[in-house]
Amino acid sequence: MYNRSFQLSCTRVAVMAGCVILLFSRTVYSSAILEGQRMHPVQGKEGMVVTSHFLATWSAQEVLKKGGNAIDAAVTAAFSLAVTQPRSGNIGGGGFMLISSEQKDEVVAIDYREKAPGEATVDMFLDKDGNADSTVSRFSHLAAGVPGTVAGLAMALEKYGTISLKEAMAPAIKLAEEGFIVTPRFSDGLKKREKRLKKWVSSKKIFYKADGSYYEPGDLFIQKDLAATLNRISQNGITEFYEGRTAELIVAEMANHGGLITMDDMKNYSPGFRTPIHGNYRGYDIYSMSPPSSGGAHVVQILNILEGYPISEYGHNSAKTIHLMAEAMKRAYADRSFYLGDEDFIKVPLKGLTSKKYAAALHDGIDTEKATPSSTIAPGKPLPYESNQTTHFSIVDKYGNAVSNTYTINFSYGSGIVVEGAGFLLNNEMDDFSAKPGVPNAYGLIGGEANKIEPDKRMLSSMSPTIVKQEGKNFLITGSPGGSRIITTTLQVIMNVIDHGLNIQSSVAAPRIHHQWLPDQLRIEEGLSPDTIKALQDMGHEVKQKSAMGAIQSILIRDGVMYGGADPRRSTALAAGL
Ligand code: DON
Repeated sequence: MYNRSFQLSCTRVAVMAGCVILLFSRTVYSSAILEGQRMHPVQGKEGMVVTSHFLATWSAQEVLKKGGNAIDAAVTAAFSLAVTQPRSGNIGGGGFMLISSEQKDEVVAIDYREKAPGEATVDMFLDKDGNADSTVSRFSHLAAGVPGTVAGLAMALEKYGTISLKEAMAPAIKLAEEGFIVTPRFSDGLKKREKRLKKWVSSKKIFYKADGSYYEPGDLFIQKDLAATLNRISQNGITEFYEGRTAELIVAEMANHGGLITMDDMKNYSPGFRTPIHGNYRGYDIYSMSPPSSGGAHVVQILNILEGYPISEYGHNSAKTIHLMAEAMKRAYADRSFYLGDEDFIKVPLKGLTSKKYAAALHDGIDTEKATPSSTIAPGKPLPYESNQTTHFSIVDKYGNAVSNTYTINFSYGSGIVVEGAGFLLNNEMDDFSAKPGVPNAYGLIGGEANKIEPDKRMLSSMSPTIVKQEGKNFLITGSPGGSRIITTTLQVIMNVIDHGLNIQSSVAAPRIHHQWLPDQLRIEEGLSPDTIKALQDMGHEVKQKSAMGAIQSILIRDGVMYGGADPRRSTALAAGL
């Protein structure tokens, strides 16, 4: 048997060695240097951090080492990711954070999703012929919602943290000011998105060298404007972002390019607390994100439907299991298209959607041998309304706190637009609204009335930061990027652990499947056997193998040991324990 601490120190040494090689020889390192970390889940007794960038993991790990709690570490990681992973880490976007405290026996959700500007209108993305214009909703200044990240992180820290905003931002400021070594993933991303980013002078000068050439692996990447912005926030608090110089720079950027965000929009932005969605799956308590995300409602809804089948008996990724998952997914995504939106504006039948009774009715409509064509599935009838690029990280501490955070600027590099003088990218989250009923968004998701554009409304999300508890104890902390695939990615890690008994690293790495009702297509990753695919086709599924889905950075706690599983779909991801 392996000696655990020996194994841990070996992997640490391997990672450190990789970085030393990088720093001093500018050698292009391959992700293989980090691979050793992923052969088994990384283990910790006093804390665990799993993020999609090793520099952010290390920043957060330091905080835990000094006695900080998971919330301190989470806010530190989020600001570090805003510097080291600008494709999704951000201060120009928004997100959701779930915090579980075993001591208080509570799980809270912070909603720092972007909001539509006050001057937004229902038809702002329609052209003169009434057609939705996705270039405007995705790649113009109109694409940006009012950013929530800075306010959300500050709120989490103030309410649940133990360190100051200044302390939490210090590692990020250092990384922006002194720079960090470019990884292959960082360099590749900017090459791939060259057209989008070079369209804007403000973006070109941040992400490409003065002569327009690329940052290559091994180069040093410094962000002076971003460092100055972060410094101002660190010195003056969040009012700097929402009312000070940074707000002025955002509003000037809007005024110069036909955007809508005003000083009033910035000043009026506020994050909020939401009651997380709570469900139960085979005895485990599932807590996940509530509206304005659809994530939690549908993770729980799909689990409820699947609870009616002996999934573990059918086996991991067997044709039967995948068929049932796909059928449950279709029905949930049909409901999403009709019912889900910002609860500050519309009533969402959350109790109905997540009830076992409704799941049983949907379960009864599933043919266990044959795919139901999506064309014959429509949003169902849950009980009536009650009266009343993205990146995820998971962190736990020795005090019984767990943080599950997903935040985003929507696409990789968001709208592609850097705020002139402020050094950060603006989100293109407005595309998550339904620009026109029945017209799919970038992820093929259909929406309607519930998710139409309205001033100050939050656009519907799929982000599903999730915390699973077992008998009051934090058990599984998980969540993912991936647009519409977030819900199904999260679902599968929960099932891989609970139904199939896989360890967290295998749960995260295992090939995934996805169905979202429309298009009527069962999307799979590579790694399913040909006879499984054939069996699914014989049941009537249109199976399409496409690129990898999600990047689910997860933690499992069992018998007091914290196991970290970093998703190998991100070459820079790292789990580190202490
Ligand atoms: O909030 C949402 O659902 C989307 N804006 C998330 C986008 C996303 O995950 C892109 N990442 N791969």
